[in-house]
Amino acid sequence: MAPVVARTRAELEEARPRIEGTLALVPTMGALHEGHLSLIRQARRSADAVAVSIFVNPLQFAPGEDFDRYPRTFETDLQACAAEGVDLVFAPGRDVMYPDEPQVTIKSGPMGEIVEGAARPGHFDGMLTVVLKLLNLLRPDVAIFGEKDAQQLAMIRRMVADLNVPVRVAGGPTVREPDGLALSSRNRYLSAAERETAAALSRALRAGEDAAADGPDAVLGAAGAVLDKAASAEPPLALDYLVLVDPLTFTALGGDRTGPAVLAVAGRVGATHLIDNVSLHLGKEH
Ligand code: PAF
Repeated sequence: MAPVVARTRAELEEARPRIEGTLALVPTMGALHEGHLSLIRQARRSADAVAVSIFVNPLQFAPGEDFDRYPRTFETDLQACAAEGVDLVFAPGRDVMYPDEPQVTIKSGPMGEIVEGAARPGHFDGMLTVVLKLLNLLRPDVAIFGEKDAQQLAMIRRMVADLNVPVRVAGGPTVREPDGLALSSRNRYLSAAERETAAALSRALRAGEDAAADGPDAVLGAAGAVLDKAASAEPPLALDYLVLVDPLTFTALGGDRTGPAVLAVAGRVGATHLIDNVSLHLGKEH
């Protein structure tokens, strides 16, 4: 059955009470790919009904970023949602989410200013603001986000804990191309040659993962060597960061640290900003 589509708050207020049982929400900016579909399937296993929101959130793009050219593919997204048995699609316009200039917004705090937050100042404030609005509007029992955006997921968990938001947050595994490139709506910006260079990001993460038993320096060294090579490829990869961080706080890990860690990488190929990460266990005992 085709999902109910709500584009306005009035339509949502009519549709939401008709959902029976528990609700899982998959917030998206559209341009749905297999990664989103896998989150939708996870949502279906997690609750009685599934809602998908589709909204390209202007608040999380800085001036000069790709807000205007971000892919908008509503009709195909809707078909994909129908094929996955989604019950409700919330696809508000900017005027619905931000009827006027918002005065009160979420401040992401120190964690919002490091790693991806340092590369994209203000991004996490805008992201958390829209996520909280979506949670308030749809009131899901569980909300599911991709682990590809690991810092985003960690920050949403933190917001939900700090502000006592009544929702369970779950992460869904990153879906990859056969050569390892993480699926992303932004991959469609890449030319064939750029696409080849971009595959170095996941190769670097795999190299880092393979060195995890030998500790932080070995991880960063192995991953860095792959990225150095990609920096002189044609077209080149311009590295934004390669960091080994604590999975909960995203603060840097080093020395003889052992235990769980996230190796996160971001870079630009042409004009396209790409991020990826892998969870690993530092040290020999695992
Ligand atoms: O990951 C995304 O697509 C966006 O950041 C999200 C969570 C839908 C908020 O706009």
